Amino acid sequence: MDVTNPRSRAQAFDASEDIGRNPSDNPTIGEVIAARFNRRDLMRGILGTTAIAATLGPLALAAGRQARAASTASFVFEEVPVNVGPDMMVAKGHRAQVLIRWGDPVLAGAPPFDPYAQSAEKQARQFGYNNDYIGYLPIDGSSEHGLLCINHEYTNEELMFPGLGGRQDTKEAGFAKMTPELARIEMMAHGGTVLEVKKEGGSWRVIEGSRYARRITAETPMEITGPAAGHERMRTSADPTGTRVLGMLNNCAGGRTPWGTWLSCEENFHGYFRGKLPEGHPEAANHKRYGVPGGWYNWGAYESRFDVGAEPNEANRFGWVVEIDPFDPTSTPKKRTALGRFKHEGAAGIVNKDGRYVIYQGDDERFEYIYRFVTEAKVDLANPKANADILDRGTLSVARFNPDGSLDWLPLVHGHGPLTEANGFRSQADVVIEARRAADLLGATKMDRPEDVEANPKTQKVYAMLTNNTRRKADQVDAANPRPENVFGHIIEMIPPDGDHAADRFRWDILVRCGDHRVASVGATFHAATSEAGWFGMPDNCAIDSAGRLWIATDGNSPKASGRNDGLWSMETEGELRGLSRHFFSCPIGAELCGPEFTPDGRTLFVAIQHPGEEDLEGNSGTFENPPTRWPDFKEGWPPRPSIVVITKEDGGVIAS
Ligand code: FEO
Ligand code: CA
Ligand code: CA
Repeated sequence: MDVTNPRSRAQAFDASEDIGRNPSDNPTIGEVIAARFNRRDLMRGILGTTAIAATLGPLALAAGRQARAASTASFVFEEVPVNVGPDMMVAKGHRAQVLIRWGDPVLAGAPPFDPYAQSAEKQARQFGYNNDYIGYLPIDGSSEHGLLCINHEYTNEELMFPGLGGRQDTKEAGFAKMTPELARIEMMAHGGTVLEVKKEGGSWRVIEGSRYARRITAETPMEITGPAAGHERMRTSADPTGTRVLGMLNNCAGGRTPWGTWLSCEENFHGYFRGKLPEGHPEAANHKRYGVPGGWYNWGAYESRFDVGAEPNEANRFGWVVEIDPFDPTSTPKKRTALGRFKHEGAAGIVNKDGRYVIYQGDDERFEYIYRFVTEAKVDLANPKANADILDRGTLSVARFNPDGSLDWLPLVHGHGPLTEANGFRSQADVVIEARRAADLLGATKMDRPEDVEANPKTQKVYAMLTNNTRRKADQVDAANPRPENVFGHIIEMIPPDGDHAADRFRWDILVRCGDHRVASVGATFHAATSEAGWFGMPDNCAIDSAGRLWIATDGNSPKASGRNDGLWSMETEGELRGLSRHFFSCPIGAELCGPEFTPDGRTLFVAIQHPGEEDLEGNSGTFENPPTRWPDFKEGWPPRPSIVVITKEDGGVIAS
């Protein structure tokens, strides 16, 4: 979800996710570009030679040609051209096939999809909406048979349901045609899915009636574990113990652990709450810091737990990392509060050289932080079950990027530094529930919307996607966030000393500032040999394949914003070609690309096409009746459907090799 896109789910109703810190109305990326160049020219790709030649000297152009000629690229494929069309495109020599679509049956006996006769009861057994994170967990170590763990982040009712009309500019208008049954369908379309998948005769399929098949929804019972479990701020009238909660919300990216579990991360949970806290309520400052209530959905009109006036503590029970054992469909998902409460993008981890598990996490909002969690215990790789509760104990830290290129991890530990009762932190429970305020007091660096953060096990370098921040002013730039009005985002590289991910001090560098590097005023730093299709903006998810190569998926490119649909790009990180990016896959219009996930053998790549048709060529929101694409069915009268796509090489080889 691009929370900065005024037409996306997030900001259609209000800008509460900005917490009032920086309330100005900044121009969109399209407006910024249009101020300099004619947008239609840009879309037709004829910004072209004159403008580019004016911004690049002959030496730079020659260097670009030379680099292209002497390419020692680690990726081998022919780029796909810039695409603003209704269908997906993948690099030549590769095959992209739809594996499962919103509404397809997941549980045994689930009915087939009918967009004109959907019900909550059907949806609870079918594939959910807006697939985001994908984790592949091998069965018996296989790269051709495993479980896919998939998040369903959010719902677009204007694309899901007939007759709702376009997204309106006020909450009241947007909710006018909602009904309790439609809200319940939305709740059942959230959460996650576990699928058993298998490659046979060169093609992947979902195993029907698998014993692993599972749907998790906004109502699945979950356990709260770790420092905040049972705390009075976690108790509600439905759960006086503060240890049981129904469902997970807005699960964006995630992670998979070496002990075979799935980490699913709650991101923009504030959007599900509405109502008003009682005057002078002690949670008022906490809720404000997280933008609660966001009012994106009207579920609170039908269920009192989503109304902060009725249940002031319910919002404290969301915003966590949820650990799920996908190999046991009866297992209770656990909200691991030791990892902190914020708008988690993902939770990608790595086994440290000393055996402890280290998880990197971005808090996806403008001016928020990058966090790290280091377990107290070592991972027992020989006995996966021994790690069952390893994430309940450890140290959560937040990053401070120093101008000299060093990075300090500041521990969020109760009693240390300012995290004391004098500042309202009476225990570690308060610290994790209000992780953002704790990080504020420690002096963490305010970043340009941290999305995925992933460690490369080959090089030990850690990559953080900073998607954009149009609200950063010139007097707010710092070394790690160097661009004011950062419309295209950038990627930071964090380097642990001697590969020690638990060290207190790292080094950092900027891998690339995104945007059209051929236009000097954009200030992008892609390698000069990067092509017209090769540059991108708004990095969001990333993946590191078995060869240690970095792949970047985007959220926020569109015909209007950057003259291209979102997609997947390869990125060189080492040597002379560092910063060279190439266009591998393009989404259908209106979609963002999520989840890129490789099988261990590198021969299969799973991607999630999220919210196809959400925005048209002009930047207007699509509707059920009038979407800019009906991908993937292209069936008259049917809406577009978020889907998982599986990419293989036609010759069966390693992707992009
Ligand atoms: Fe849900 Fe940060 O993207
Ligand atoms: Ca995003
Ligand atoms: Ca994301």
